[in-house]
Amino acid sequence: MTDRTLILCKPDAVERQLVGEIVGRFEAKQLTLVALELRQLDTATAEAHYGEHAEKPFFGELVAFITRSPLVAMVIEGPEAYKVARNLIGATNPREAAPGTIRGDLAIEMGENLVHGSDSPESAAREIELFFPNLA
Ligand code: RTP
Ligand code: MG
Repeated sequence: MTDRTLILCKPDAVERQLVGEIVGRFEAKQLTLVALELRQLDTATAEAHYGEHAEKPFFGELVAFITRSPLVAMVIEGPEAYKVARNLIGATNPREAAPGTIRGDLAIEMGENLVHGSDSPESAAREIELFFPNLA
């Protein structure tokens, strides 16, 4: 079965010039790119994207971070894409993330953890619609 999931190379990834490294890891795993765009997120889209965290104490910081400079949004495709991508990304806290994962290898701060990946097929569908409404 082939599935699609949304990936964001967050502003820290673009600032640190790690987009090629990160995209390369998904490609090396044989997940296929179906959409990719560098874009500056507006506050409304950021709040919609992270809506599940609206009541959390870190919500304001999270929205400020994700909108501070351009990010790279992409959709990738492959069997169990969301799960495979989350395994490549690693644990939310980069200090707990396993070596070999993107966060485990390249990040150290929770608030600057480089990558977002949808956390379920339902989240993937919602997030792909939010970022790429015209994707067939
Ligand atoms: P993401 O959505 O960005 O892919 O990250 P995730 O699924 O691994 O983690 P999630 O629970 O969805 O949290 C979203 C982002 O919020 C920040 N966070 N801070 N201070 C805290 O306790 C805390 N918890 C989460 C992280 O930057 C995380 O990526
Ligand atoms: Mg999440």
